[in-house]
Amino acid sequence: MMLDLLVKNCTLHDHDTLMDIACRDGKIIEISPCIQAEAAHTVDAAGNLVTPPFVDSHFHMDATLSMGMPRLNQDGTLLEGIRIWGELKPDLTAEGIKARAMKLLSWSVARGNLAIRTHVDTTDPSLMAVDVLLEVREEMKDVVDIQLVAFPQDGVLRCPDGVRLLHAALDKGVDVVGGIPHFERTMDQGRESVRILCEVAAERGLMVDMHCDESDDPLSRHIESLTYETQRLGLHGRVAGSHLTSMHSMDNYYVSKLLPLMAEARINCVCNPLVNMNLQGRHDTYPKRRGLMRVPELMDMGVNVCLGHDDIMDPWYPMGSHDMLEVAHMGAHALHMTGVGQQESLFDAVTVNGARTLGLEGYGLAPGCNADMVVLQASSKMEALRLRPARLFVIRRGRVVAATPEVSALVDLGGGPLPVDFR
Ligand code: FE2
Repeated sequence: MMLDLLVKNCTLHDHDTLMDIACRDGKIIEISPCIQAEAAHTVDAAGNLVTPPFVDSHFHMDATLSMGMPRLNQDGTLLEGIRIWGELKPDLTAEGIKARAMKLLSWSVARGNLAIRTHVDTTDPSLMAVDVLLEVREEMKDVVDIQLVAFPQDGVLRCPDGVRLLHAALDKGVDVVGGIPHFERTMDQGRESVRILCEVAAERGLMVDMHCDESDDPLSRHIESLTYETQRLGLHGRVAGSHLTSMHSMDNYYVSKLLPLMAEARINCVCNPLVNMNLQGRHDTYPKRRGLMRVPELMDMGVNVCLGHDDIMDPWYPMGSHDMLEVAHMGAHALHMTGVGQQESLFDAVTVNGARTLGLEGYGLAPGCNADMVVLQASSKMEALRLRPARLFVIRRGRVVAATPEVSALVDLGGGPLPVDFR
């Protein structure tokens, strides 16, 4: 039996001995020690950790790499970012959006991110970015799964024609219904937007992923409405609340009622530590709030929590290279999640938990799954989180789509050069 690819000497999180992974026709067909079979291609993982690919559960591909266009975000707030994006929109071109998205995707694949859920602004009457990202999704489908969320950036009710434009984007083939209730004109309008958008998703049989309560206002409680509508419409497990930063500042008693309701509705939560550590707390003097949802408490409650990069070099965030381990590393600090089990949970939050939120089929390292995986220059999840190491090989459907040479410094302490890789 000829294999397409044999990945040898893999450290897997749930095995004590080195394993080989046999791939054929884009699928994993066997995982065992010392597989003896001919293969068209062989990769030696050399004892390094092999994991399923990284998943970015929350991104903005239409805005990425636009930093400085037309000006920089000087005060660093979310609202200033939204203003700058509004100024940029009339000058956007399809060619520019596509070129930036393709450049970003080359970074994503190099970093082993093979699934990305990206929001796309649907409040531009031309829906140009929607058309461009639908084209990018199709062109890149053999390399990376791109899931598009119809995101009414200016508010589906606040924007004239917001509901019609959202439907038009969904008609074109956008995958998921988005929203931004905290940006509507009033709390009531925010609640109303959640109801309308969840009904749209239920009618169309789609998932929901809303920017929800991305605010330091403890009374921003649209997650309560989102949870309620999920329950009412039977959308259990198909709804995600992104950001949820107001939860950081909410009253503890209120949160003790909220979290069990979220668990019951099987809400998926998407935390964005890099960007919200940057955007939140900007109206505070001292102490400055962290402004991240209560991830350890949500996880303890059995809620599926995953992480997103959110932005890279755009009006909201001036940094990043699409490294999901950098996102998890920031999470470990900002969320006080440095315990061994907690670090492993954060690794899962940028891999399997994200796959669950996106509803990815065939994800994972097991026979029958897609032959998608990453060989990291590390031996464990914890070491990977600490070092954010090189992605030695990134494999998609049994094909190597990116490779990075091992990173090692040569240090001479007086006795000759010594290789150092921090392990
Ligand atoms: Fe976002």
